[in-house]
Amino acid sequence: MVLASLLQGCVQLLVLPAHVLTCLGLWDSFYKKVFPYIMAKMAPAYNHKVYKQKQALFSNLRAFAGPSGQLTLLEIGTGTGTNFQFYPPGCRLTCTDRNPNFSKFLLKSLSENQHLKLERSVVASGEDLHQIPDSSMDVVVSTLVLCSVSSIQKVLAEVLRVLRQGGAFYFLEHVAADHSSWTYFWQKVFDPLWKCFGDGCSLSRETQKELEKINFSELNLKHIYVTPYWIPSSPHIIGYAVK
Ligand SMILES: C[S@@+](CC[C@H](N)C(=O)[O-])C[C@H]1O[C@@H](n2cnc3c(N)ncnc32)[C@H](O)[C@@H]1O
Repeated sequence: MVLASLLQGCVQLLVLPAHVLTCLGLWDSFYKKVFPYIMAKMAPAYNHKVYKQKQALFSNLRAFAGPSGQLTLLEIGTGTGTNFQFYPPGCRLTCTDRNPNFSKFLLKSLSENQHLKLERSVVASGEDLHQIPDSSMDVVVSTLVLCSVSSIQKVLAEVLRVLRQGGAFYFLEHVAADHSSWTYFWQKVFDPLWKCFGDGCSLSRETQKELEKINFSELNLKHIYVTPYWIPSSPHIIGYAVK
């Protein structure tokens, strides 16, 4: 790990200009405008890679519909709306994201997915969803978001609060590799660069551990690799947890 810290220091030097801009308050506002364009370009290729896994994951969404047969679904960090195609017809959707600059892309995805009913779109961070009432959601979804949030614990506390009893939290997140692997070594080395150009995203989060700490009545979690295993962003967790 000494070598990893040394190489990480070199990477940190590379991203020093962005750190200076961050201290001057210039990087975040600039990058928050650029990031949605990057995601709009990259998301289709990523979705293609995980298409089968997402299709299987979301195939039982209907099982969590309320007594009226309608499914109320909240997506945290909706981004460009890449998951809309997997949601069932008539699904009553609430979108939240901390970055308002995604709205143009979100509207495009909605126009391509007219089987959904958008109830609300809220600019909010997952750590504070006070606009969403307690126990109001059948399902909450998060894909590639918990790697970027400032507090996974706070987000999961909000997920539990807004879910009704028996509702489910669906997730697909990239995570830290096994600590004894070379993948983890490279995750640690490239973390500063990734954070800088991934809008705060970390390659080495132990998201599964945080999910295991929460009092869900059922946790269905699988580890998968979405690209060759040695690529730092390859290890993922996928599944759902029932409140
Ligand atoms: C990598 S993108 C993934 C977007 C989308 N979920 C997907 O799977 O394509 C991460 C998204 O999470 C959002 N995000 C990051 N931190 C957040 C937070 N604390 N609260 C809400 N949204 C957040 C970002 O603005 C961005 O839209």
